[in-house]
Amino acid sequence: MERSMRVVLLLIRVLTIATITFSIGLCNGIPGWPPLCKESERQALLMFKQDLEDPANRLSSWVAEEGSDCCSWIGVVCDHITGHIHELHLNNSEPYLESSFGGKINPSLLSLKHLNYLDLSNNDFWTTRIPSFFGSMTSLTHLNLGYSSFEGVIPHKLGNLSSLLYLNLISYSLKVDNLQWISGLSLLKHLDLSHVDLSKASDWLQVTNMLPSLVELDMSNCQLHQTPPLPTINFTSLVVLDLSDNSFNSLMPRWVFSIKNLVSLRLTGCDFRGPIPSISQNITSLREIDLSYNYITGQLPSSIQNMTGLTALNLGWNNFNSTIPEWLYSLNNLKSLLLSRNALRGEISSSIGNLKSLRHFDLSGNSISGPIPISLGNLSSLVELDISGNQFNGTFIEVIGKLKMLTDLDISYNSFEGEVSKVSFSNLTKLKHFIANGNSFTLKTSRDWLPPFQLESLRLDSWHLGPEWPMWLQTQTQLTDLSLSGTGISSTIPTWFWNLTFQLGYLNLSHNQLYGEIQNIVAAPVSVVDLGSNQFTGALPIVPTSLYLLDLSNSSFSGSVFHFFCDRLEEPKQLSILHLGNNLLTGKVPDCWMSWQYLRALNLENNHLTGNVPMSLGYLQTLGSLHLRNNHLYGELPNSLQNCTMLSVVDLGGNGFVGSIPIWMGKSLSSLNVLNLRSNEFEGDIPSEICCLKSLQILDLAHNKLSGTIPKCFHNLSAMADLSESFWPTMFMINSSVEASIVVTKGIEMEYTKILKFVKSMDLSCNFMHGEIPEELTDLLALQSLNLSNNCFTGRIPSKLGTMARLESLDFSMNQLDGEIPPSMTNLTFLSHLNLSYNNLTGRIPESTQLQSLDPSSFVGNELCGAPLNKNCSANGVIPPPTVEQDRGGGYRLLEDEWFYVSLGVGFFTGFWIVLGSLLVNMPWSILLSQLLNRIVLKIYHVIVEYV
Ligand SMILES: *[C@@H]1O[C@H](CO)[C@@H](O)[C@H](O)[C@H]1NC(C)=O
Ligand SMILES: *[C@@H]1O[C@H](CO)[C@@H](O)[C@H](O)[C@H]1NC(C)=O
Ligand SMILES: *[C@@H]1O[C@H](CO)[C@@H](O)[C@H](O)[C@H]1NC(C)=O
Ligand SMILES: *[C@@H]1O[C@H](CO)[C@@H](O)[C@H](O)[C@H]1NC(C)=O
Ligand SMILES: *[C@@H]1O[C@H](CO)[C@@H](O)[C@H](O)[C@H]1NC(C)=O
Repeated sequence: MERSMRVVLLLIRVLTIATITFSIGLCNGIPGWPPLCKESERQALLMFKQDLEDPANRLSSWVAEEGSDCCSWIGVVCDHITGHIHELHLNNSEPYLESSFGGKINPSLLSLKHLNYLDLSNNDFWTTRIPSFFGSMTSLTHLNLGYSSFEGVIPHKLGNLSSLLYLNLISYSLKVDNLQWISGLSLLKHLDLSHVDLSKASDWLQVTNMLPSLVELDMSNCQLHQTPPLPTINFTSLVVLDLSDNSFNSLMPRWVFSIKNLVSLRLTGCDFRGPIPSISQNITSLREIDLSYNYITGQLPSSIQNMTGLTALNLGWNNFNSTIPEWLYSLNNLKSLLLSRNALRGEISSSIGNLKSLRHFDLSGNSISGPIPISLGNLSSLVELDISGNQFNGTFIEVIGKLKMLTDLDISYNSFEGEVSKVSFSNLTKLKHFIANGNSFTLKTSRDWLPPFQLESLRLDSWHLGPEWPMWLQTQTQLTDLSLSGTGISSTIPTWFWNLTFQLGYLNLSHNQLYGEIQNIVAAPVSVVDLGSNQFTGALPIVPTSLYLLDLSNSSFSGSVFHFFCDRLEEPKQLSILHLGNNLLTGKVPDCWMSWQYLRALNLENNHLTGNVPMSLGYLQTLGSLHLRNNHLYGELPNSLQNCTMLSVVDLGGNGFVGSIPIWMGKSLSSLNVLNLRSNEFEGDIPSEICCLKSLQILDLAHNKLSGTIPKCFHNLSAMADLSESFWPTMFMINSSVEASIVVTKGIEMEYTKILKFVKSMDLSCNFMHGEIPEELTDLLALQSLNLSNNCFTGRIPSKLGTMARLESLDFSMNQLDGEIPPSMTNLTFLSHLNLSYNNLTGRIPESTQLQSLDPSSFVGNELCGAPLNKNCSANGVIPPPTVEQDRGGGYRLLEDEWFYVSLGVGFFTGFWIVLGSLLVNMPWSILLSQLLNRIVLKIYHVIVEYV
């Protein structure tokens, strides 16, 4: 609808221009003798030309030679009879900068005493001010300097142009100190100041309100920030008002709905808040209202209800939170109704069938529920229908079948279900975009169905299409966007399919049971191809070098990766995101990365790759994320990796890398957010350079052979200390499955994708580190998980540990820590997993709801006393409070037993997770959660059976 509004505005402008009759020089000219043109005016134009920069020589007809009639020069319009120049059309109609005029404007124009029309728009007078002598060209009725890059303050002298009807000063570089001068333009009908900086013009409203003839006022994008009160509304002639994209940050003023003859009201993106004011008089002239992109709340405004002439209403992207009122369905001239992205609820009434003129209807992104009324099928003019992202249910299909004019239909992300047959589509001959993913329809068609439409976009993700491949796709030769993810297709991809895909920009067949080999992927340049989570076998396919994203993860591709990466080396690859993880790929990581220079994310995890990380990986200077975990890689990391300075995520866990942790990692990879070197053979000290990684949120060095102490400088890892949300590069939003990171917390490996940026964790467990835990470590206030277990740490637990208030999981088990548990730990209110077992800790466990609610196993293998341990501290003369397990006379066993029951009773899901956590507390190993599930479930089962 925005487009249609623009068209209307444009039309209004064109019409008004057309009323000023003119004829352009070239057309009126029988170039003859004597010349029509006045010599003084000819000289004035030649002087004007001299100062003008004209790189494209557009004024080649403006020549000094005698006898050349300036009335026939390009852009010049003379009066037929008097020969005076009336109009100068010097706008740049080409879209190219090179054909723009520039330079200076010579005051010789003042000699054109009869000039009433001057158009210099779309030129490039940057660094030039609007000449104030323009204010002396009092014959002007029409001045257009729009988009001409004039700079600085608009001269007040323009206010002397008392004959002006039309003034266009659209500009990104002009400003005003006030608009008082406008009041001199008493005949003005059209004023367009879009993009001019009016932030200082607090008088903008009073001044324009006094222009008695004003028909069109455009002050969009003008940095206006207040709507001063208006005691009396004048604006008697105003037809078009556009104040879009200013930041008023207030209630919508009442006067905008009180302008008697207003036809078009555009207030999009104005930061208006609160409800729309109610009004008392009937404004019946309005045809178009656009209030989109504000923060308007409350009911859909009943002020609109008598505006029965409305043809376009856009209230999208606000916070309206009512049901759809019945009166809306009586605005039966509406052609365009956009209510998207609000919080509208309730159901659609069957009166919707009254809106017979409706062509564009957008309800997307609300909370409307229930069925779609059958009467919607009466809207026979409907071209675009978007009801995506609501809670509609039912079948709906019998309604769609009637909408013969539909080209764009988006019903994605609702709860529609039921069977859809080919009959349902038989009238939809014009359909081009069918977006219906996120519903549970079942498509029943015969193998030989010939759909009546030619689609450009088709998204049916989560429909039931399978198990057979949809053969009717063969008829759809115009597709640019195809998504059939999770549709239960269990087949091979027919070879003809790849004849259809050469123009596909988006192809998603992921999460099906597709099998067989793929020889060749075909797709349009810069496209996204996601075939992940299927059962493809054989070698990796040949892919176009121009792909943007390729996901072939979670399948059974096998064989060496050499050809995929190293064939056709001379063709530079455009690929930016590549996910080949979770396959059966073998061979060395090839040394051909020089032709993959645009890679930003590379995921090869969970394959059988061997060998070293090749030197040429250092060519990937835009690489942001590198996932090589769980392969059979070995050797030292090449120094060339330090060239990949954009790296944000490095996951090399579960390989056999040796040597010390490279110093350059801390020095060069300063953007690192995640560093995972878990389960390798790294040895030696943790280099203090790691402390330079200011953005590091996840550091996992567990299960290596690291020795030495924890660097004291760890407190410089400022992202781990920073409690605010962190900034992550947006590329990770594109396909989060590429960007999953495994974080071990609470003894469980968790795969984090979308929430990765909120996780802050450090794991140094299972190494040979020694020395004291530095008190400085407690400066890392934002850590949610800290695991130092299975090392040789000595000394006391840092006394300020309790300041790390975000900690949910803390594991210091299997060290040689001594002394008492610091009392500050009672402040750790989020702590749900604690393991201090098998140290030399002594004394009473400090009392807090949190610590005492933990499992006793958290504390075993120490000399501790007090709850939750069954050992009281009476030896110190303290009488322990009675505890639940004592009352029942049960021991540790029983407690655990009971605890299992309780947690399972809470509901399997919650219980499952708690149990899972507790089972893994003392396990020195951990593997991918998904692989663990079955085993753990079995274990729980056994445990329960044993105790019952
Ligand atoms: C309304 O316009 C008239 C005519 O220009 C003017 O005299 C009067 O002051 C204006 N009223 C207000 C409130 O601006
Ligand atoms: C407003 O318009 C409606 C319908 O056109 C009419 O019935 C009503 O009387 C009008 N109200 C006022 C206050 O003019
Ligand atoms: C709309 O019209 C009804 C009568 O049809 C009238 O009672 C009401 O006041 C009008 N509302 C507005 C805002 O003009
Ligand atoms: C649709 O959802 C509503 C709840 O919003 C429910 O009462 C109704 O039974 C559902 N209808 C169908 C056909 O599923
Ligand atoms: C298609 O249009 C015809 C004629 O208007 C109508 O009778 C038929 O019911 C429509 N088909 C569907 C599936 O709605």
